[in-house]
Amino acid sequence: MQTVTQISQVRTEVANARKSGQSIGFVPTMGALHAGHISLIETAARDCDFVVVSVFVNPTQFGANEDLEKYPRNLERDVEICAKAGANLVFAPAINEMYPEQNLTWVDVDKITTRLCGQYRPDHFRGVTTVCAKLFNIVTPDIAYFGQKDAQQSVVIKKMVADLNMPLKIEVCPTVREVSGLAISSRNQYLTEEEKQDAKLIYAALKKCSQLAKQGEQNCEILIKEMKIVLAASSKLMPQYIKIVNPKTLADLETLIDGAIAAIAAIAAKPGKTRLIDNIIISTPT
Ligand code: PAF
Repeated sequence: MQTVTQISQVRTEVANARKSGQSIGFVPTMGALHAGHISLIETAARDCDFVVVSVFVNPTQFGANEDLEKYPRNLERDVEICAKAGANLVFAPAINEMYPEQNLTWVDVDKITTRLCGQYRPDHFRGVTTVCAKLFNIVTPDIAYFGQKDAQQSVVIKKMVADLNMPLKIEVCPTVREVSGLAISSRNQYLTEEEKQDAKLIYAALKKCSQLAKQGEQNCEILIKEMKIVLAASSKLMPQYIKIVNPKTLADLETLIDGAIAAIAAIAAKPGKTRLIDNIIISTPT
């Protein structure tokens, strides 16, 4: 496995792979790789002949008061993980390589980026879609892999790819969880033991919602109230939003529609300073 830092090197390696008839899988990451990323890379390696992983902490998706500076970085460790998981190429560009000049061109997906996390992180998704569009243009993958944990991100990327007729498929892979149920995230590193205990309640609330929906509860107000009760078990866990939304438009739902579409129950909450997100796909009994 090779690690490169230049866009031209990625283009050369991908062109060589294509020449020999290989399909290209791509896993975009910001590094600090964990079991969730490993499962994406392993899936890509099963589906595709040549797997590229990008490791780039993208400054344009961080707000002014967010954790850009302290975001965990350890390229050596990330490269080892990529090799073990079956990647063929790691692309770890410097900021200047990705943004050599002031960026004046943005990819902005409307409406769905203003909901859920978009309400609290203005411009975040514009940074994500812009960097993903750039990375897709550099890597030219057949399939790009994203995690269900960042449900809104996956919905937004899929919409960008559809709207801009980008020639690739987006594959969304299941959330990987700790034994406690806590969704694995690079930001879990910031949590104290006590905060981790509180953070477990997020998945417990989502599971409760899913169980009630499966038992036939269709009223979203009731489902949200039940999630709030679970989260309230810790006075230190501060929910930012607790929502049940349409999985495509991300608009709030009032009721679950009988077996017709699944919905997403989504929570953002802070067990301390760290903001965590998680979600679960819920459906009514069939
Ligand atoms: O999910 C992430 O790690 C980032 O948002 C992504 C997709 C790599 C873009 O920087």
